[in-house]
Amino acid sequence: MKRVIPKLLTWYQNSHRELPWRDTRNPYFIWVSEIILQQTRVDQGLNYYYRFVEKFPTISNLADATEQEVLIIWQGLGYYARARNMQFAAKQIVNEFNGEFPSHIKDILTLKGIGEYTAAAIASFAFQQPFPAIDGNVKRVTARFFGINAPINTRAFFQNAQNLLEEAIPNDCPDLFNQAMIELGALICLPTKPKCDICPLAELCFALHHNEIDSLPVVISKTKAKQVFLHFFSLEVLDSIVLHKRPSSGIWGGLYEFPSIESDSIDLPDYSSFLSDKFGIPKSSAPLKIKEVKHLLTHQNIHATLWEIKLNPAHFIINSSFYLVKKNELFNFPIHKLMLKFVT
Ligand code: ADE
Repeated sequence: MKRVIPKLLTWYQNSHRELPWRDTRNPYFIWVSEIILQQTRVDQGLNYYYRFVEKFPTISNLADATEQEVLIIWQGLGYYARARNMQFAAKQIVNEFNGEFPSHIKDILTLKGIGEYTAAAIASFAFQQPFPAIDGNVKRVTARFFGINAPINTRAFFQNAQNLLEEAIPNDCPDLFNQAMIELGALICLPTKPKCDICPLAELCFALHHNEIDSLPVVISKTKAKQVFLHFFSLEVLDSIVLHKRPSSGIWGGLYEFPSIESDSIDLPDYSSFLSDKFGIPKSSAPLKIKEVKHLLTHQNIHATLWEIKLNPAHFIINSSFYLVKKNELFNFPIHKLMLKFVT
């Protein structure tokens, strides 16, 4: 690979996108950008990045924030454990590393939520250390360039790719090499119809010369997504509405939503025992269907329905993990993306 690296770096210098996290060596900003980019594409990630670093400009600002403040900024990105892990890691940095982002990869890897990819990205972008940062894009480039046949999401693939890239990464500009590989995967070495005619690695690309562009990387098909039916209730009590705070572990941990029940179909399930058990409501008028939405997660296709019930305050008891909030204060609470589909 070494022979084509000058071409790769020249291509990067002429063709890369200007992105704010490429103009900094601040490991904290780089870390924030990498975690956001694990959740979303660059165009959407930019906004989240600016809002995050504006609200929490330093590691100690993040460590001192409330969970709710962090989740509000993260709202809509999904996989909220990532945001909570970041805050935990900010506290680790304050307590164990004197508030200074650690520069050794072994120390970086002790931070919660930071895996091999993110640690290598931070070590190379912020501290110019020669660790290859192997994300999904780089895996595709590497599989094609070297002709690696192991399925892309296996440990065997990762280790093979890591060994080959460790050999190749230049000591004098590991940051540029890693950015260039990421950019090549994003702009040229696309999953379908890659632009091999303008690729700086074309001369030595295994897949191109062996007609394997469409068969590499090898991807093992994922298990089929489960169909899940959720029924949410907009329980209105005068000018207020009931919110449920989800437990901090598991999907949408710590986020707020309308109370819900799961059933095995899109039809309204028996809701009366739910209302009487949770809120002491003896009986209510029939719910009105407000909205149906589909929400796709990695392993679940959620079919969600929102039902509205107006409640008599006299019969209403609120208990732990449920909150009665004024309707116009709903947006002070961090809510998940499916909830956003209901209320916007
Ligand atoms: N995706 C992951 N890391 C990235 C980076 N540093 N620049 C652009 N896209 C990325």
